[in-house]
Amino acid sequence: MRPYYITTPIYYVNGEPHIGHAYTTIAADLLARFHRLRGRPTRFLTGTDEHGQKIERKAQSEGLDPQAFVDRLIPSFHEAWAAIGCEPDDFIRTTEKRHEVVVDELWKRCLASGDIYLGHYEGWYSVVDEAFFTEKDIENGKVKETGNTVEWVKEPGYFFRLSKYTDKLLAYYEAHPDFVRPEGKFNEVKAFVKQGLEDLNISRTTFRWGLPVPGAPDHVVYVWFDALTNYLSALGGFGAEGIAPGALYTKHWEPNGEVVHLIGKEITRFHCIFWPAFLMSAGLPLPTEVFAHGWMTVNNAKMSKSAGNFLPPAPIAEAIGKDALRYYLMRDVALGSDSDFSHASLLARYHGDLGNGLGNLLNRMVASIVKTSFEGRVPHVTSDRLGELEKNVIATAERSAETAAKFFADIAPHRALEAIWELVGVTNKYVDQTEPWALAKKGETAKLEVVAYTVLESLRWLSLLLWPVMPEKCDDLRAQLGLAQVAPTEGLDRWPSAWGGLVAGTVTKPGAPLFPRMDDDQQRAFYLRLGAPVPASLEKKSEPTKKEPKPAKAASENKETKVTTTTTSETGTGLITIDQLSAVDMRLGLVKSAERVAGSDKLLELKVDIAEPEPRTILAGIAEHYAPEALVGKRIAVVTNLAPRTFAKFGKTSHGMVLAVKDASGLSVLSPDKDIAAGVKVS
Ligand code: MSP
Repeated sequence: MRPYYITTPIYYVNGEPHIGHAYTTIAADLLARFHRLRGRPTRFLTGTDEHGQKIERKAQSEGLDPQAFVDRLIPSFHEAWAAIGCEPDDFIRTTEKRHEVVVDELWKRCLASGDIYLGHYEGWYSVVDEAFFTEKDIENGKVKETGNTVEWVKEPGYFFRLSKYTDKLLAYYEAHPDFVRPEGKFNEVKAFVKQGLEDLNISRTTFRWGLPVPGAPDHVVYVWFDALTNYLSALGGFGAEGIAPGALYTKHWEPNGEVVHLIGKEITRFHCIFWPAFLMSAGLPLPTEVFAHGWMTVNNAKMSKSAGNFLPPAPIAEAIGKDALRYYLMRDVALGSDSDFSHASLLARYHGDLGNGLGNLLNRMVASIVKTSFEGRVPHVTSDRLGELEKNVIATAERSAETAAKFFADIAPHRALEAIWELVGVTNKYVDQTEPWALAKKGETAKLEVVAYTVLESLRWLSLLLWPVMPEKCDDLRAQLGLAQVAPTEGLDRWPSAWGGLVAGTVTKPGAPLFPRMDDDQQRAFYLRLGAPVPASLEKKSEPTKKEPKPAKAASENKETKVTTTTTSETGTGLITIDQLSAVDMRLGLVKSAERVAGSDKLLELKVDIAEPEPRTILAGIAEHYAPEALVGKRIAVVTNLAPRTFAKFGKTSHGMVLAVKDASGLSVLSPDKDIAAGVKVS
């Protein structure tokens, strides 16, 4: 099996990590776990970017030497990743010697190719972005794209002949259509390169906090040339004159291994233009793919300490469990799109998908039926006893596993989770249909055995399918099923594919609920503990004290009292808070295709572009009002974070809802009167 190497960006150590950094790291951890589960030799790298002017200034502002400043912050990264269940194989720091030697070698190789020359730089620089900008990128002293201020820099510098690589890069992109994803980002990269590239300044002289340029110690290496090299230095380097490449490099870098750089969308230029050009110059193979994910806001605002919405991940993980947080972050958002973190949506996923969906299934079966009817042991069931309902669960499991594998491999975890939740939904429905409690009461043991086995085996499948996302809970689930922890082994594909792996007689061990329900008090405590505003729906109602019995009042007076109460609290008035509203993710969708669902008079199957890597499938009950072709190309409003709904009769699942209005004159889908871009939030 071809080795898999997944990397996160290395994070600037100018502060502690927040939920946005956690989002990238969790996604990379999930991908590493998925490939490991499939038996692939896998390596997962993260680390820290510790040089540059930004960090030097931050250290100065705190009166510290930069090395002491970064050293002090490093434990917060290790602690954050442990708190959210991320287990990288390596953590590279750019201040390590093993890194410095490889940066040196890369520089020397580019120099030997004639691509580095001494010049003079005069122009704009943004310290926050650690990037050079031209006049056209700037408006009112700020970078248009990032909003960060620029300053005028005038200094000697070594330049990299990036201009020489314009055509080479374009040819490479042409030959490697999956080099950058999502496609939209790739198009932006191509368009930028097509304009022609200018040579890039790769050294600085007006500050000291960086690696010395080989042979020119007055210069420090530009922080991005330094930082990008981490992906190679963490593999032990690519070798140099008289030095063999590191064993990890030979195993994991192209052409032997698949190399995937997972990054945030704001750093595509560095990873998709500069980095490939440096590698080309050094005569080294390029990474296989760069995947740029979207940005996460918190309650619809950019995260910042001053705005009071800076969220470190560990306290959230402690308040709700690391796996619930991982699930929420990977389930609620398409990785390629922008997203918003909200405490209300996290709680909604926790109680809905996790508590009522998955946790309930386990409880209903292991803690109840199996314990009381089969002395806690997995019953024996032969395949000839399976009826249509069981076959449907098995077929769903197979379909979910196949689809989820495809989507995980394709870096679309939210789609994989949707597919897995089809199995959760169908299995829960199966329990409702077969009514095991009634079977137990009636003493129909043979039937009950079949039901219990089917549910337990479905849970076993789920414990593997969900392990990349929720490793701890899946191991807990397996322990309750009487199974060993998932311990991926190189060369052994553990992805479930054969029904019936759960051995009859296995002793189950009912334990605590996986996702215990939080009552109102606990939910209030959750918000307060995280410093988030408590939604009005959870505010404590002020109860009249017993000592002061309410005087009897006329009906009209009572009404008045009620009105007064509502002005002080929104509780119980039927009003919702902004948090509750923002839990509903509504977006502008562009209908790419529409067709009738065979066998249904009402349903149309739409494929709707909402700026995710792939269009969403949405089933809408509008076939009596719209001809399919009338909808293609139309811009419509859709709810995107509704739990998927399976129309078992038609074997189809809807992943969203179309917003429409209906009166006596008919039905009309909501559509803006301007050409708003797909994916834009409805607010
Ligand atoms: N040090 C550079 C990367 C060098 S890689 C050779 C850097 N560091 S950073 O700390 O500013 O950001 C790194 C990454 O953190 C982003 O690319 C992105 O993956 C992640 N995120 C930071 N803030 C984020 C959000 N608000 N939302 C989602 N991801 C975010 O750039």
